[in-house]
Amino acid sequence: MSASSDDLDQGRRHFLTLATGVAGGVGVIGAAIPFVSSFRPSARAQALGAPVEVDISKLEPGALIKVEWRGKPVYILNRSEEVLATLPDLDSVVRDPESEQQQQPDYARNPHRSVRPEVFVMIGVCTHLGCAPEYRPDVAPADLGPDWVGGFFCPCHGSKFDIAGRVYAGVPAPLNLVVPPHRFLSDTTLLIGDDRGIG
Ligand code: FES
Repeated sequence: MSASSDDLDQGRRHFLTLATGVAGGVGVIGAAIPFVSSFRPSARAQALGAPVEVDISKLEPGALIKVEWRGKPVYILNRSEEVLATLPDLDSVVRDPESEQQQQPDYARNPHRSVRPEVFVMIGVCTHLGCAPEYRPDVAPADLGPDWVGGFFCPCHGSKFDIAGRVYAGVPAPLNLVVPPHRFLSDTTLLIGDDRGIG
């Protein structure tokens, strides 16, 4: 099955609706918490791909926020130790368990695919046809089955990804979700789009 342009337009519209629905046009959406403040560069700087600084001080374990960088949604997720513990068990059911494909910077090529284990940063664009994967932290929901331990689900064609954005084998998406360049400016401030100084 393939996505129609309507599907893709709908996905993009959905994201744009979310991104523009925040007071002041900050472009940050709290999925599990109501609001996380962030600095956002000017529209012109954004268009040129300027990095986006995000305050994650209020990002509780299990919560996800979305910011926009270079016109794409970037998801920032706080993963608890319990959630991180599910990753090794999924090595045998995901397509690229060691992140051998270049879908992340070298410093995120590790079992948790991130700089800090608890803070996961990914581009919210499915590697199949570009829809927006849904954050599905619920365990064993009826629609995803008893083996589901939480992750990301793309409803467009049913691709599944674990909580580190690793794609399951046997779904339409061919690659893990992309981890963008990023670095921490402090314990609570993240910079998306700039990783200078990270080896
Ligand atoms: S766009 Fe087809 S499964 Fe995500």
